[in-house]
Amino acid sequence: AEAIKSELVDILVTKEQMEARLAEIAAEIDRDYADKDLLLVGVLKGAIMVMADLSRAITLPISMDWMAVSSYGAGTKSSGVVRILKDLDTDLQGRHVLIVEDIIDTGLTLAWLKRNLEARGAASVKIMTALRKPDAAKVEVEVAYVGFDIPNDFVIGYGLDYAEKYRNLDVVGVLSPSVYADK
Ligand code: PRP
Ligand code: MN
Ligand code: MG
Repeated sequence: AEAIKSELVDILVTKEQMEARLAEIAAEIDRDYADKDLLLVGVLKGAIMVMADLSRAITLPISMDWMAVSSYGAGTKSSGVVRILKDLDTDLQGRHVLIVEDIIDTGLTLAWLKRNLEARGAASVKIMTALRKPDAAKVEVEVAYVGFDIPNDFVIGYGLDYAEKYRNLDVVGVLSPSVYADK
């Protein structure tokens, strides 16, 4: 990924740091859900990397499902109005659900999603996120597991995109403004 890395001004989380933190969180999940049947719900597309790495560090026999959502309304992604593009295949009645996300930015997507999944009769709905931007929060979201709190910079990599690119970068980096300056 050296060619991509030349477009970064900073690396916030290295591959090794992310792996180590996810191992700690997975150990907590192993303890917290030891006697439960856990369903991980990944939010497409950003969560694919953290889902792949976190789930393999968990030793319990968990299940996985996926949702794709899109924010819309007033032309901005921060409207808090969310549309389901791909719903779960799983009936959540009585299930213990852990939503797996790459990042909480404004918190609007997850605030909506948590309420939506709770309304389906889940026994519990908790949130795990690899990254969180405390300075960008517009709503309070209760998060059970956080990888790293990061500054309010434009970050890419580890599933996070800019215009659908850079998801495959193996670090979390700050994109050089020159890449999007004249877009
Ligand atoms: C990004 C990110 C989170 C969400 C966070 O997804 O992956 O899902 O935004 O933003 P919020 O806290 O302000 O609601 P995006 O909508 O870009 O879709 P993607 O995962 O397919 O990139
Ligand atoms: Mn996303
Ligand atoms: Mg995105």
